[in-house]
Amino acid sequence: MAMILISQGRDMTPWAEALKEKRPELDLRVYPDDSNKEEVAFALVWNHPLGVFKEFPNLKCISSMGAGVDHIMKDPELPANAAITRVTDENLTRDMADFCVALVMNHLRGLAFYKMQEAAHDWQPRHYLNISDVTIGVMGVGVLGAHVASQLSNLGFKVNGWARSKKMIEGVEIFSGDTMLGDFLATSDILICLLPLTKETTDILNRDTFQKLPKNAFVINVARGAHLVDADLIEMIDTGHLSGASLDVFRQEPLPEEHPFWSHPKINVTPHIASVTEPKAVVSLILENYDRVRNNEHLLNVVSPQKGY
Ligand SMILES: NC(=O)c1ccc[n+]([C@@H]2O[C@H](COP(=O)([O-])OP(=O)(O)OC[C@H]3O[C@@H](n4cnc5c(N)ncnc54)[C@H](OP(=O)(O)O)[C@@H]3O)[C@@H](O)[C@H]2O)c1
Repeated sequence: MAMILISQGRDMTPWAEALKEKRPELDLRVYPDDSNKEEVAFALVWNHPLGVFKEFPNLKCISSMGAGVDHIMKDPELPANAAITRVTDENLTRDMADFCVALVMNHLRGLAFYKMQEAAHDWQPRHYLNISDVTIGVMGVGVLGAHVASQLSNLGFKVNGWARSKKMIEGVEIFSGDTMLGDFLATSDILICLLPLTKETTDILNRDTFQKLPKNAFVINVARGAHLVDADLIEMIDTGHLSGASLDVFRQEPLPEEHPFWSHPKINVTPHIASVTEPKAVVSLILENYDRVRNNEHLLNVVSPQKGY
């Protein structure tokens, strides 16, 4: 049985090294590879060429290299008999919470504006917001969102979360399902998107959604670029309903040179760095699933093909 690494545009060397260091005897291949494809039962992937899996007739598991699986689910030719899994990792979860806290505090204290004023040698103290002034709404309270919500709550913020299903997170009020989305949005002075990208959540950050937020709300998207309708965000900031946004993810990455987000004074851009999977931190989990495939056991972190996440 063999494992194959498949990616377009991502350097596979750190992945291959980390896997080989943990398990030197692993039959590991990197796509494209001409060895016997029938031996491949496990594919570890990021942005694979669509349709590639039909080359491997005995594939049992397709694992994402990260927390997101939208890059896998968009393939119309996924093999029916292969499970889809993803990685979760406490470093990834911690890094996402740290980053969201940094963005929220940056917004409260207006640090991005001071950076612009500094460039113009302009000394203009501004009114700032306190933790007690704002309610934060976290859209998607799964592995990452739940931890982000808890950490913000621990800092003293009032935090609400929105998910498909009801759940308990200490210090966080949960709104569930489409029927409660309006109530959730109406209280979110800062909206953080941590939804997976699915048919239901594509374009969810749109004009309609923004209009339901309180005036001067601030939007943080650290999930996927296709959650956001770019033109609607710009319109809602420029007409004064939203106070600004911090964006880490984009429909096209790298963000094209001519994109208006780059130069918008109220939009902060970061290059998809909120939380980056470190191969060394997750190869044990990947090898655990590889062993489970070999032993025909129940896999960890399985994605639901119906739900798409
Ligand atoms: N920027 C970065 O560096 C970076 C890094 C890692 C991940 N990400 C992104 O973060 C996303 C979230 O990761 P995760 O591990 O937290 O995912 P997860 O554990 O699968 O959690 C997803 C959450 O979204 C909710 N949800 C899904 N569809 C929904 C819908 N239609 N309506 C309402 N709620 C819905 C789920 O509700 P239920 O709980 O009811 O199922 C769950 O709470 C990933 O998919 C990835 O795209 C970004």
